[in-house]
Amino acid sequence: GLKKKEVNVLCLGLDNSGKTTIINQLKPSNAQAQDIVPTIGFSIEKFKSSGLSFTVFDMSGQGRYRNLWEHYYKDGHAIIYVIDSGDKLRMVVAKDELDTLLNHPDIKHRRIPILFFANKMDLRDALSAVTVSQLLCLENIKDKPWHICASDAVKGEGLQEGVEWLQDQIR
Ligand code: GTP
Ligand code: MG
Repeated sequence: GLKKKEVNVLCLGLDNSGKTTIINQLKPSNAQAQDIVPTIGFSIEKFKSSGLSFTVFDMSGQGRYRNLWEHYYKDGHAIIYVIDSGDKLRMVVAKDELDTLLNHPDIKHRRIPILFFANKMDLRDALSAVTVSQLLCLENIKDKPWHICASDAVKGEGLQEGVEWLQDQIR
C-alpha cells in the first residue's frame, strides 16, 4: 500500500507539564501505558494517524536533561510545547525555555509548526489558554505557524483539536 509520510515531532516543555500523558493519550488504547512516570532522558514513541506516521521524541523536562533537547531540533518537523496552566510560579521558566528554543540556530530560521498545549485546564486555578499565550508572548512568533489549545491530558480533552491543527500544517 501507500507508505505513510514520516513525521518527527519533538515534545518539549517543563517537567510535570504532562508531555508523556499527552503522548500516551494519542497512542491506540491497546498501546497505552497504565501509569506514567517522570521521563528519564527521553523516550521515542510511534503512532499512526490519518495518513501520517509519527515518531515522537518525548523529552524529559527536568532541568538536568533539558540540554538534550537541542540535539533533536535538526530532525524535528514539528514541535509540541506543553505548559502546566496551573504552575504560575514556573510560567517564567517555561517562557525562558521557549525563548531559548526559538532562538536556537536549528529552529530560528525554519517555518516549523509549534503546537502549544495549555495543559491541566481541569485544575481549579488553571490559567486560560489566552492568558498562557500572553505570558509566553506567543504573538511575537511571526515566522512560524503556531496554535494553542487548552487541554486536560488525563481525560484526553483538547488533544484531538491540537493534533488536527498539526496534521493540517504538515500535509
Ligand atoms: P517529565 O517527563 O518529567 O518532563 O514530565 P511530563 O511533562 O512528561 O509530565 P507527565 O506526563 O509525567 O505528567 C506529570 C503529572 O501531571 C502526572 O501525575 C500526570 O497524571 C499529571 N497530569 C498530566 N496532565 C494532566 C492534566 O491535564 N490535568 C491534571 N490534573 N494532571 C495532569
Ligand atoms: Mg515525561
